[in-house]
Amino acid sequence: MTITPPRLDPALDPEAGGADIDARWRADFEVHRGQHADVTTAGMWTLAPAVRDGLRSSLPTFQLGETGTGRHLLAMARREGNADYVEAMRLFVIEEQEHSRLLAMACEAVDAPLLATHWTDRVFQWARRLLGLRAEVLMLLVAELIAVCYYATLAAGVGDQVLGRIFARIHADELRHLDFHAGTLPRHLARWSTPTWWCARVVWTMTVIGSAVVVAWDHRQVLRACGSGPTRFLIGVLRLLRFHEGRFFDRSTRVTIEP
Ligand SMILES: [Fe+2]
Ligand SMILES: [Fe+2]
Repeated sequence: MTITPPRLDPALDPEAGGADIDARWRADFEVHRGQHADVTTAGMWTLAPAVRDGLRSSLPTFQLGETGTGRHLLAMARREGNADYVEAMRLFVIEEQEHSRLLAMACEAVDAPLLATHWTDRVFQWARRLLGLRAEVLMLLVAELIAVCYYATLAAGVGDQVLGRIFARIHADELRHLDFHAGTLPRHLARWSTPTWWCARVVWTMTVIGSAVVVAWDHRQVLRACGSGPTRFLIGVLRLLRFHEGRFFDRSTRVTIEP
């Protein structure tokens, strides 16, 4: 299922890279802002009982994970990044809040009550605030990698065009988010000393694998109902990890950043 993305001025294409990467990503988020405003769950088909039950047990956790003001993240970004980076990060947070809104609609459509809190969310929030901007974005990226596989599975297997398109929209955004952080984070990570940088890389990789195992098992019901399963989901996350790990931890992009 493919969603046509909004058009972006080629001169501002973040994929082109360059020194003004923050400005390019700011422009990308600006052009995508409000893209999901008209989305509704009207016209949904009747879901297969296994899919409906799986979504009810799984979606609220992801909906909660997409919720947040980003207050701490933006405070950290203001301390370490330039104005374009801060604005791009602000628009990134707004896009995540849009996902939360879309998933709340999906939860309502399958009669799944929203969660106020969940232990996995508390663990992520605690860990993200431990070491400042870099640790916060790295912990976000653990969730982003897992989310990409999760929404792809749901988009392909939910068996309903309306919900499938909602999950495909979120999936497309999450892929952009990985590119955004791959384009902007390495410069910040490169400010760590070499031992800290390597330590962070190993810990982050282990955290992705551990978190993916927990999510694969916790959400096995919906993964199976959508034609996948915990093992296939885990393999998908490991493939993504293999591709992106070297992009986030790329010391060849080391540049001086004004504090
Ligand atoms: Fe999201
Ligand atoms: Fe995201």
